[in-house]
Order: sequence, then structure tokens, then C-alpha cells
Amino acid sequence: MAEQESLEFGKADFVLMDTVSMPEFMANLRLRFEKGRIYTFIGEVVVSVNPYKLLNIYGRDTIEQYKGRELYERPPHLFAIADAAYKAMKRRSKDTCIVISGESGAGKTEASKYIMQYIAAITNPSQRAEIERVKNMLLKSNCVLEAFGNAKTNRNDNSSRFGKYMDINFDFKGDPIGGHINNYLLEKSRVIVQQPGERSFHSFYQLLQGGSEQMLHSLHLQKSLSSYNYIRVGAQLKSSINDAAEFKVVADAMKVIGFKPEEIQTAYKILAAILHLGNLKFVVDGDTPLIENGKVVSIIAELLSTKTDMVEKALLYRTVATGRDVIDKQHTEQEASYGRDAFAKAIYERLFCWIVSRINDIIEVKSSDTTTHGKNTVIGVLDIYGFEIFDNNSFEQFCINYCNEKLQQLFIQLVLKQEQEEYQREGIPWKHIDYFNNQIIVDLVEQQHKGIIPILDDACMNVGKVTDEMFLEALNSKLAKHGHFSSRKLCASDKILEFDRDFRIRHYAGDVVYSVIGFIDKNKDTLFQDFKRLMYNSSNPVLKNMWPEGKLSITEVTKRPLTAATLFKNSMIALVDNLASKEPYYVRCIKPNDMKSPQIFDDERCRHQVEYLGLLENVRVRRAGFAFRQTYEKFLHRYKMISEFTWPNHDLPSDKEAVKKLIDHCGFQDDVAYGKTKIFIRTPRTLFTLEELRAQMLVRIVLFLQKVWRGTLARMRYKRTKAALTILRYYRRYKVKSYIHEVARRFQGIRTMRDYGKHVKWPTPPKVLRRFEEALQAIFNRWRASQLIKTIPASDLPQVRAKVAAVEMLKGQRADLGLQRAWEGNYLASKPDTPQTSGTFVPVANELKRKDKYMNVLFSCHVRKVNRFSKVEDRAIFVTDRHLYKMDPTKHYKVMKTIPLYNLTGLSVSNGKDQLVVFHTKDNKDLIVCLFSKQPTHESRIGELVGVLVNHFKRPAAQSGLRMLLCVLLECRQEETGTRTRTKPRDSISTVKRRLTHRRPGRELSCFRQLPGEALLSSPTLPSEPCRSPPLTVI
Ligand SMILES: Nc1ncnc2c1ncn2[C@@H]1O[C@H](COP(=O)(O)OP(=O)(O)OP(=O)(O)O)[C@@H](O)[C@H]1O
Ligand SMILES: [Mg+2]
Repeated sequence: MAEQESLEFGKADFVLMDTVSMPEFMANLRLRFEKGRIYTFIGEVVVSVNPYKLLNIYGRDTIEQYKGRELYERPPHLFAIADAAYKAMKRRSKDTCIVISGESGAGKTEASKYIMQYIAAITNPSQRAEIERVKNMLLKSNCVLEAFGNAKTNRNDNSSRFGKYMDINFDFKGDPIGGHINNYLLEKSRVIVQQPGERSFHSFYQLLQGGSEQMLHSLHLQKSLSSYNYIRVGAQLKSSINDAAEFKVVADAMKVIGFKPEEIQTAYKILAAILHLGNLKFVVDGDTPLIENGKVVSIIAELLSTKTDMVEKALLYRTVATGRDVIDKQHTEQEASYGRDAFAKAIYERLFCWIVSRINDIIEVKSSDTTTHGKNTVIGVLDIYGFEIFDNNSFEQFCINYCNEKLQQLFIQLVLKQEQEEYQREGIPWKHIDYFNNQIIVDLVEQQHKGIIPILDDACMNVGKVTDEMFLEALNSKLAKHGHFSSRKLCASDKILEFDRDFRIRHYAGDVVYSVIGFIDKNKDTLFQDFKRLMYNSSNPVLKNMWPEGKLSITEVTKRPLTAATLFKNSMIALVDNLASKEPYYVRCIKPNDMKSPQIFDDERCRHQVEYLGLLENVRVRRAGFAFRQTYEKFLHRYKMISEFTWPNHDLPSDKEAVKKLIDHCGFQDDVAYGKTKIFIRTPRTLFTLEELRAQMLVRIVLFLQKVWRGTLARMRYKRTKAALTILRYYRRYKVKSYIHEVARRFQGIRTMRDYGKHVKWPTPPKVLRRFEEALQAIFNRWRASQLIKTIPASDLPQVRAKVAAVEMLKGQRADLGLQRAWEGNYLASKPDTPQTSGTFVPVANELKRKDKYMNVLFSCHVRKVNRFSKVEDRAIFVTDRHLYKMDPTKHYKVMKTIPLYNLTGLSVSNGKDQLVVFHTKDNKDLIVCLFSKQPTHESRIGELVGVLVNHFKRPAAQSGLRMLLCVLLECRQEETGTRTRTKPRDSISTVKRRLTHRRPGRELSCFRQLPGEALLSSPTLPSEPCRSPPLTVI
């Protein structure tokens, strides 16, 4: 039931009435109509009253209110039913249909358009172009079909004169992908004649009022409506439709839908040809009928793209085959007029059917491959001509009203009969609700042999002249006892009925008097073969296509075609079968008055409609009945996830028990009944709540499935990775093993090799063994070194150690370390170096040995220094394991300065070719000299001095005396007097360490010991090479 509507608007659902009675029903309907609430529910049926005024209830905001909502959540509206049908189709993949019924002018066509608009508005959220195109076509097709198939009648200015059932096809996502229109019996007699106050089809008026001068001229038409016999009757009528404006709208719509220009042009030509046909007059000359206005014939021929004489012949003669002979039989004037009208009606009907088929061609679902599009579901919308009673009711009204009987029967079958029967079948306690079953009237019309249609067909099949009166006579004799049939002959006192002309059917919606005049002809629907051939031979291909049967030659025997009534009956049966196979939703339209007034609510007229539509019975069944039923199996399938007892599978004895458990679990036990095979749910609210619960659970199920699937994927990935890692591990192991085997193989016999395997090429290690290889090579080198050292005599070992120490300290820093020569150390005692003075030095050295008790001489050499007066002076240095002596060679190596070795804190040398060396001392009185060799000249002895000293200080016994606390840099700067060199503390120890780690080749190597304060030392210009680059400092 509807919510959110206050009670001042009456009850939104008739089911809520206090008592189910006609007065209360009518009072509610009237109240709501007067308050502008034109829609009311009966459960899932919408009752709609035509407001006859524009209401602001179909806009975008209203659409949004109804989109995706359940029926009871919003006030009654067409959108609610459209949404329910759409949702049912989407949720259950079931085809649904919306059947809109009601009498002429009750608002069916308008309702069907609003429903289609709603469906178009809520679908295709992703704005796919193809879907938008389809939607546009479906919407645009309405105005084209209305132009050619609707007309003004005395009941409705825009009355549908054809039946329309439109299927909209949806893909699995619920977006419209196409459609199909079925059209039913067009009231074509309207082309040639209309009742007073009525008009022909809109298309004629639209062409004459809206077509340009030039177009009308080319069609040989003039604007004046009264110039054409076929539409003269309604020429002066005022219509609420603006024909001229509509003409443009329809032409544009045809273009948008995809009609080609020549097709649109042909449609106009056909309309013009029909108007001209109506003006043709026949005269009789003796026995021969002639056409009075021959010029019109040539215009018709031109419009139909055929020849004038052929048109004339088709109008005046009829080709008849007698045995093998073919003769032209001349028409009487009456026959000629009949032929002309039949031709006009036929070409209009063909045009209409062709328009429908062209629209179908365009909107038809192109690819309905279920594997790619999923299940293709359908919503059908039925908008068919409503029940109608005119002053003069003929064959067409008979068909239209029969159609409405069939639809009422379907409603009864589905809503009233089957429902009640089902309750009984399922053993649900039920008190039968009585209703009028119109099956008896349906039988009156269609029953084999006894129905009106079979009797009419019999009459048409009789050879010889059978008149309409004879047909009426047959009805009288066969249906005399039928309660719903009467005629003047059967009821002589009934003066309303004319003798030999009228019969009355008591329809479910009221009594209708039909005049039999024209029944036989309209049922036979004869069109002389000559016209078909004429059209087939047209040079206009569009026109020719409309008449494929014109191909048959006159001598070809064809089966007698089915009569119009039988064709219509068959199409109705098919339609009802189609609707019955879908889940139906009903819109029951009510016409509030006959004056098309928005103010008047004609109680009597409305009560009558409520009665014949069976709305009260509908309310009763609905109130007592159940909104929803479903077999236990299907119910479980849809809702089992709601309860732990049923998810994923129940272990109860039967599905019925499981459903009971589920319902009890949800607390709905008071709103359901359990049948033999089905569960019945009384109120929609319960169903919607179930749906909501299901929707909530679905999210969790989806998450669960995603979780499981993600887990599966992760496990698969994990297994693959693990497998890959195992492969990798084994491969690596293989590579390592092969490397080790290879190393072992290559180095197998190195002990016996002369170079202890120096020449052996190392195999390339796998990446993982790079560091291992480095370590291995280091081990190998040490082993090899140990092997080589073993061969060196013990006396050479100090020299080797000194060289190693020099290399470790200065490698890469100085070019020549003097490694290639033997390091003599004590050069002052060496004759080649000091040929004259060595003899003088040795006693001094011995004297010092005695005095200072040194054990070993580490180094001695001539040096040069520059004194503070820039004078070069020769000196010598003598380094023992106890002292560093500065001597004067010119004075018999007199000791000038003695520095105990433990006072020596560092040694600075440059990285150039010079032999400059600075001995740093604890007392900051650094000694700066330049080594000087006489033989050979300029021999580099810096490496030797560094090696010997470093090696000496490396001894375990000396280690405690060597302390490195601070660093200094040796700076050289130019002063006026010459180069001045000073040492000063500059960096913290950590900075130096850092610098050491990142030192660049060619830059100073510095690491040092404490030198507090500053000591300015003068440095002479050195004879060899001045210290330009930063000096190298060695501990
Ligand atoms: N919801 C509505 N809002 C405004 N006017 C409406 C509405 N429904 C119907 N009408 C008015 O009533 C007229 C007749 O409606 P409609 O053509 O839909 O009737 P119908 O039931 O299709 O009749 P028929 O059986 O003759 O085709 C419309 O032209 C329009 O003026
Ligand atoms: Mg209509």
C-alpha cells in the first residue's frame, strides 16, 4: 500500500477501504480525482482517471522518486507500476507486460507513453550510444504511428484507430536493445467515410495544413480540406491537435527513425492519391461507366508512378479468368465506386502496415546472441482501442469491442479466476468471491459454428448474392436463445432496434447496438486483383514493395483469403496467449466524463466503468488474497541466503519445511499461508522486506565469493612463486656447485706449479658468489704469498716487510716507491753513495751506537734543507731504532739534532716527484728536509724511508709509542720572502676519518697525531721540485 500521502487525499489503495462497497469505492475515487490524485492502487493494479489537464507529475524529479523504489514506498503512479514491471523483469529474468485497458478516451495511449518515457529515463545509466538510439526510436515511433493510426472521434480527439502492442527487449543489464510493434486491425473504413463530428486519420489533415506550398503543388493538392470528398465531413471541425505543427514533428520523427527521403515522399504521394481517388466520379453512358473527371486519373497515375490508362482500366474493368480465357468484365457504376473506395482503404492500410514494418526493421534487436548479451527479456506494453459505443456502430466497433472482451477475459482469468482456483488447489482456506465472467460474451462472438464471427464467415462464403440482411437472419435463427444477443425480430417491443438492420450485444461494459450494414463487405474485404497488379507494376520501388501479391497472374488460383473478422480473431487469440505467458501488470483507465472536462466527475459514468472493469471484485480478491505466491523450491532458491537454516542448503525433510523455518526465522509467519506446493504471502511489504534482506545478504555473499576467489588466486600465485623459488634454489645450488667444482679442477695441481697457480684463470663466479670469490682469492693470494715467502732468506725479510709496509701506505699515491731495487737503508755508510765521506760517517755511527745503544740502523741518507736565509745546506739524516739524527756532513757528520724516535709523531711526504719529507715531532719542531742521493742521482728513497719507519712502528713492541690523535694538513703559502709552510690543526678526527673513506686519488692522504697550537716553520726553496700539490702525510 502506498505511504507518504496524507489521508486528506483519500485512500491510496482501495484495499484499505473500511468496507468494500460501491459507494465507498466511488467516494474515494471522486475525492482523489478532485484533489488531483488521478492514480490509486488496488494492490499491484493502478486505477487511473483521465485528468483532462496537464499535471506536473511526470517530470525528472518524479521519475527519480520512483526509480528503484518498491511499489508501496511511493504514492500510486504509473511510474510505480512501470518500475515494478521493470524490476520484476530484471530480478527474475521474467518477461512482463503492462496491459492498459479502459474505454475510448480514458487515457490509455497517454499512459502508455508515460510508461515508455519512464523506462527510457531509468535505463542506460552508462549512456551507451546504441541504447540511446534505440530509446529515441521507440519514443519517436509513437508520434508517427499516432499520425497515421489515430483520428478524432466523438469520444476522443486522439483516438487510437488501431491496436498496438509493443515489446521492448532488454539485455541482461536491463537496458533496452530493441523492440517490436504488433499492430491490430486498423479501422480503415474511416479513410472513406466518417460519422458526423469525426475526422479521418490525422495524417491527411497534417499534410494539407502543414505541407509547404511547393510540396502541395507537386502533389496536386490544395490546402482546403473541403475540396476532398473523403475528408469533407470533418473539414470544419475544431480539433485540439495542431495539424500544421504536428506535420513537422512527424516528418522529423520519420527522419530520425531512419525513413529515407524517398520513402517519406512516397507516403505523402499515397495520401494525396487517396484524396484524389475520393474525388473521382463515375457516370454512365448507356451501359458503360465512364470517369467524369479524367484529369484526376492522370494525377493519381502520376502519384502512384503508374500509367493513366492502367489506372483507368483498373477502376472500370475487372479481369476475370474463365477457364483458360481471361476477359475484362466491365464494372457497373456501383461496382466502380466500391472498387475505388476499397482501393483507397487498401492502399492506406498497406501504407500503415508498411510504416509499422519499417519501424520494426529499424528497432528490431539486431544480435540476440544469448551467449554475449545474456538472456534477452521483454516488457510488453499494450495500448489498444478502448471499448466504444457510437451512434452508428458497425463492423469495426464490433471487432474493437470483441477485443476488449478478450482482454477483460484475460484479466478475469489471471486476476480473479485463476487466483481463486489456485487457492483451492493449494488447499488455502478461501471463501469464493463472485464476479461476472464475460466468457459467455467471448463465446457469443467467436465460438465455432455458433458464434457471430463463424456465422458471418459462413455468410461470406456462400456462393451467390448474400446480403447483410441475410446475415442478420442467420444470427437471429442461431442466437435466438442467447442471453447477450437480441434483435428487433427476437424482441419486437424493442423500438431502439431497427428491423433487418440492427442487433444488440450485451457486452461486459454495456449494451451496444450494431448495424449489420457493410458487415459482409467489410468482412470479405474484397479488393479486385487488378488493383494489386496495378500497384505491383508501379515504377516506385517503395510502393511496389508494399504489394508483393500483385505478382500473381490472373490465372493463378489462390486460396480464398481468411476473412477480416477471422484474421482479427486469430490475432486477438495470439495476443492474449502472448500476454498470458508474461507476468501482467494492469493499468485500468477510467474516463470521468464525456465532455473532456477536467472538473466533472460523472458519478454515473464512472460507477458504470468501475462495475464493468470488475474493480470491486478486484479489491475483494486482493483483500482476501495474497499478493505473491511461489513454489517452495523457487522461493528457497531466491531467499535461502536470508536464514542460517537454509543457507547454503537445508537439511530439513522438505523444501516446505525449510521455507517455514526461513519465514519463522524472519518473523513473517502471520503474513503467509502454506499451500501444497506454494507459499502465499499476503502483503507486498513482506515480500519487499524479503527482497531487502536478500539484497543485503547478496553483498555479503559477493564479498564472500570474492574473498574465496581472491584466496584461491593468492594460493595459486603462492604455489607458482614457491615452485619458481625452488627451481631458483636448485639452479643456484647447481651454479655454486659447478663453480666450486670448476675452481677445484683448475687449481688442482697448483702446489707443483712454478708460479703456484698465478697464471690460472679464475672462472666467473655466479653473482651470489662474488664476495666469496673475493675472499677465496684473498685466501689464495695469502697462501701463494706464504709459499713465496718460504723461499726468501731470513736476512731479506725485514726489507720485504718494509716494502710491503710502503706499498700498503703509499700504493697509488706516489709514482715511484723504489720497489725494484734493493733497499740498502744505511746509505751514508755505502761507498757508492758517499765515496769520500762514508769512511768519516762509520765511526760517528759506531760512536752513537755505543752512546745511544741502538740495535739497528733503519735509514740514513744525505738531505738538503734551506735555512732561514734561503741558503741551501747539505745535511744528513740518520735513523736508528732509537733516534733520528740530523747531521752535518761537512763537519764529519757532526750531530746537529737528536730526536728520540718515540718523539716522532708523523711523517708527511708529497705525492709529487720531489723527495720532500716532514718529520713531525711531539714538540712541534718538525724537521723538513729533502732526501738527496748522489749515486745514482735523484734516486727515489721516499718509499724506502716510509716503508722502513712504518714497518718499525708496526712492531708489537713499538705500538704503544705510536699515537695518532689529530690530523693536520700541510699548507704551503707564498710569502714575499719565499714559500712558507706551516702546519696547523684543521679538522676534527671524525672529519678526517670521513675524508679518508671518501678520499679522491691525487688528493692529500692525511691522518695524524696531535699538534696543538701552531708552529711556523720556514721551508727553503727546494732544489728538486717545490711542493705545489697538497702533501701526502703518513703516520
Ligand atoms: N495523464 C493525462 N494527463 C493529461 N491528459 C490526459 C492524460 N491521459 C489522457 N489525457 C487526455 O485525454 C485524451 C485521451 O487520452 P488517450 O488518447 O490516451 O485515450 P485512449 O484511452 O487511448 O483512447 P482511445 O481508446 O480512443 O485510443 C488525451 O488526448 C489527453 O488530452
Ligand atoms: Mg488510444
